[in-house]
Amino acid sequence: MPRPIYITTPIYYVNDRPHIGHAYTTIVADLLTRFYRLSDRDAYFVTGTDEHGSKVAEAAQQAGLSEIAFCDQTVETFKTAWENLSLSYDYFLRTTSNRHKQSVQKILEKLHTAKTENGEDVIYSDFYEGLYCTGCEKFITEKELVDGKCPHHKTKPEKLKEKNYFFRLSAFLPRIKELIESDEMQILPEERKREVLGLIGQELGDFSLSRERVKWGIPLPFDKNQSAYVWIDALSNYITAVGYGDDPDSFDKWWTKGEVIHLMAKDILKFHCLYWPAMLMAAGLELPDKMFLHGFFTVDGDKMSKTLGNQIDPNEMVAFYGADATRYLLLTQFPLGVDGDVQAKRFITQYNSDLANDLGNLVSRVIKMVLVNCGGKIPAPHKEIEGLDALMAQAEELAERSYAHIKHFRVTNAIGDAISLVRATNKFFNDRAPWKLVKEGKTDELGGILYACCEVIRIVSILLYPVMPGKMTEIRSVLSLDSASLTLANARTFFELVPGTKVKLDQPVFPRIKEEKEAKTGAPAPAEKEDDNLLDISEFGKVELRVAEVLKAEKVEGADRLLKLQIDIGSEKRQVVAGVAEHYSPDKIMGMKVVVVTNLKPATIRGVESRGMLLAAKKGKKLTLVTVADDIPAGAKIS
Ligand code: ME8
Ligand code: MG
Repeated sequence: MPRPIYITTPIYYVNDRPHIGHAYTTIVADLLTRFYRLSDRDAYFVTGTDEHGSKVAEAAQQAGLSEIAFCDQTVETFKTAWENLSLSYDYFLRTTSNRHKQSVQKILEKLHTAKTENGEDVIYSDFYEGLYCTGCEKFITEKELVDGKCPHHKTKPEKLKEKNYFFRLSAFLPRIKELIESDEMQILPEERKREVLGLIGQELGDFSLSRERVKWGIPLPFDKNQSAYVWIDALSNYITAVGYGDDPDSFDKWWTKGEVIHLMAKDILKFHCLYWPAMLMAAGLELPDKMFLHGFFTVDGDKMSKTLGNQIDPNEMVAFYGADATRYLLLTQFPLGVDGDVQAKRFITQYNSDLANDLGNLVSRVIKMVLVNCGGKIPAPHKEIEGLDALMAQAEELAERSYAHIKHFRVTNAIGDAISLVRATNKFFNDRAPWKLVKEGKTDELGGILYACCEVIRIVSILLYPVMPGKMTEIRSVLSLDSASLTLANARTFFELVPGTKVKLDQPVFPRIKEEKEAKTGAPAPAEKEDDNLLDISEFGKVELRVAEVLKAEKVEGADRLLKLQIDIGSEKRQVVAGVAEHYSPDKIMGMKVVVVTNLKPATIRGVESRGMLLAAKKGKKLTLVTVADDIPAGAKIS
């Protein structure tokens, strides 16, 4: 039996909203998980959120919420984004969950009694001295000061000493170095391995594992006045999630015996490649097998940041391209591991080229010919066709090659090989010119060509399934294939399709997108020409309508027409501003079930944030909100 495989992403800070950087790592993890499952390996995929620490506490305070209420809210934005992207994680870890808090305390107790090889205590207490800003309620560094003062409070910080517990990292570094050098614990890509080894050479000191003044955290079991340093808390998530402390069988299967792969970007290298193995060694636990640290994205040349406002929201991409194409586009921008600049304006061109022209077109042209010329049934194969042997060879070797690529994290190569096969098949189709054979009545040869093309489509539907699970399932249903034959083994050989099987094609799998509509994220620009106000079906599909219940309503000060509403759209609660005050009083609208457009960019109306629009019917002066029957739950999608 091959080893089960355990795949993780970082747990993301909740003081940020999900953007394509977070999405990228999580999509890669989903792809690997799905790929290994196709090849019959048992896989477990964990992601989650990092919710403790002073930054989160500050963000909560700014939002006017308790810490946990603030976390509950942001966690939903991550979960919604991951659902929109069809990410199939097995477990979502929140560091504020009881399960995790108990697990961290157990680890801390274990570390507290642990000794190094030389018999020293792994954890020791000492004093931490630094500059403390009472306004910020935290230590700040010299570098952060402006004219010797805290930039936020314009006050001089005081020198303060507090008791802290320290982790004796230095005792573990020589052994960690050996394990990394010998690849027993693989740090990938090679450049990152060199970077860690370089860090070890710089004689890192021990690190403080507790904070006395940070209240929003997990208390140390051996000193309740201190809370665990965020990284101790955060890194432990990887073992909590598979049952450290509460499920020994699962822990044994996934952590101790499984192949453990941590995915992340290079920003958090030191913590993962040095602190984490040291903690595990001290606790007597197995080390991860592989850590892959991918590159960092910039957007149009700039670092993505909240302050610049240039973060790309994966939900917007999904609203425009759909989940599958978004996954495809994000995964194919650059090889995994390389830094890159995302230029959203290139997305449409690439979508049209790879997905609409190459893959979508292959499916359409082949299936249309089967429908028109073969009675809608897959024809019989025919071996003597020029170019068929070469095409078959390329198709049959795809599974093996892709597996090797995925095993070595060459994600873009795996995807590129599948697209190359699609292109080769389009060329095969053109070269054989089956439309001529129709005229000439050569039905056997015609059938043979179409059969071969259907086989390629089938094989590609397996190999690209981990990248585009929804669309590949759609393509498979065109060929009347179900999930039983969705395995890597089925992709290894030609002639699996049974002649006579029905095919059907309702709509293009990847409809073309008009290039002129391009904008920052690909969101459609306002229609320019008057005669161009007919929408494609696919365009209407981008508008997300949901049933919402109005929870609260109040007038917006100084605006006679506006009501500020708090609504429940099932997955979350939102605020919208609606111009209905002349038609509905707050009392009347409260409790109504209305219809809301949910995938609009937030807007600020009279200084009030609005996230969505209500549908209403209007004639002359009369305005009536579109409502639904009471038994339709909030959050129901309208299509
Ligand atoms: O560091 N390009 O959380 P975080 C590529 N909570 N990937 C990016 C990216 C970008 N521009 N921006 C973010 C933390 N990422 C800790 C982790 S784990 C025990 C604790 C992705 O919210 C990438 O995976 O800052 C990166 O490593 C991670 O988000 C950092 O997420
Ligand atoms: Mg970060």
